[in-house]
This record gives sequence, C-alpha cells and structure tokens, in this order.
Amino acid sequence: MRGSFVTFEGIDGSGKTSVARKTAARLRRRGLPIVLTTEPTKTWLGDAVKRSYREPVSNFTEAFLFMADRATHTTRIEELLRKGTLVISDRYCDSTYAYQAARLKGMVKDPMNWLKRISEPFVIEPDLTILLDIEPRSGLRRIAARKKKVHFENEPFLRQVRRNYLALAGERRFVVLDASRSLDEVVEDSVDVISSRLRVSKGLR
Ligand code: TYD
Repeated sequence: MRGSFVTFEGIDGSGKTSVARKTAARLRRRGLPIVLTTEPTKTWLGDAVKRSYREPVSNFTEAFLFMADRATHTTRIEELLRKGTLVISDRYCDSTYAYQAARLKGMVKDPMNWLKRISEPFVIEPDLTILLDIEPRSGLRRIAARKKKVHFENEPFLRQVRRNYLALAGERRFVVLDASRSLDEVVEDSVDVISSRLRVSKGLR
C-alpha cells in the first residue's frame, strides 16, 4: 500500500521543527514506518539554498533555489511513499507559496499562483498539511536567542507570510493548529490529527 505524506508548515518561530520531531517520535513508538525529512534538505542543494541567506541573490534566484532543492526532494519522497512509508516533512511546497509569494510581490503578477503553476510537475500534493499558526511577534520572541539569523525573520514580512499561509489553508488538506500553546499540547493535537485523518484514508490503527 502506498504510504502517506504529511507536511508541517508555519512561520519562523512557530515551533515546526520541534513539533515535527516529537510527533514523528510518538508515531514511531506505535510501530509506524516513518521517515522525517526537512527543507531546505540536508544535501548540497539544501546547502546552496542556505548559502543564499548569507550571500544574497535576486528574489527570483532564491525562489528557483528552493524549488530546485524541492524537485530532488520530491523524487526521494516518492520512493519512500512507494515503499509504504509515512513521510513527514518539516516544510515543503507551501513554504515557497507563502514566503516566496511575499518576496516576489510586485515583481510578477499573482506570485502565489505563478509559483504553484511552475511547481506542478515536481511537487506532490501532501495528504495532510498541519499549519502551526502563531502571531509573528510571538514567534520572533521565541527565536530571539538564536545565533543564526535569516533575513526572513522580521515582523512585517512574517505578517505577510502568515496571511499567505492562512489563504492557502482554505484547501481541504490543511489543518490549522494554534501554535502559541505549549509544545506538548501542539504535539498531542498533531498526533491526533495525523492518526484520525490517515486512519480514515489508509486504515491505520
Ligand atoms: P527553516 O527550516 O525554518 O530554518 P531553521 O532550520 O533555521 O529553523 O527554513 C529556513 C528559512 O527558509 C525560513 O525562514 C523559511 C525559509 N523558506 C522559504 O522562504 N521558502 C521555502 O520554500 C522554504 C523551504 C524555506
């Protein structure tokens, strides 16, 4: 049986990485075959993406770097799904639709749809996307102590990114969780949402 594909999305400071890790660990304890993956990926393509944070490039180049990394990531995800794995990704296509649509505002007509259209051949639609929603100010407060800073981490920009995410969340595959709560509460909800949604479609116990 084909596996399932779940993605976690949210602005910087929403807690995605911690929530995705803990959720995957909890589901793994139930004996599910799970692979946790992330974007930017831990490959030279992901390194190229991260290099663009330190050595700025044009907004178009930035968008294509994220998408180049994703195209190869998708091939790997598809292989895992064919083996029946539950793949959980910390960020995927919606990060580009939310962040790069904000970066390309005014540079291309209807950036979100433009990005979706060009992504079509190398993106697979997740079965479930959990959007960890938080006010940018609270998110930024959480990550204020981090040494490594990315230029996306500023409040007006993240407000636009959050709006883009909430617009995307109109699609049925999305579940929006309040990420201002404690890590344990958000993990609990994520485990519940994944088990109930995928049980219905895939017969998981
Ligand atoms: P993230 O994984 O959140 O970084 P960290 O490991 O430091 O928590 O991703 C790094 C940044 O890249 C983040 O600000 C979001 C941004 N990003 C995009 O703008 N577009 C994309 O398609 C992706 C995957 C990430």
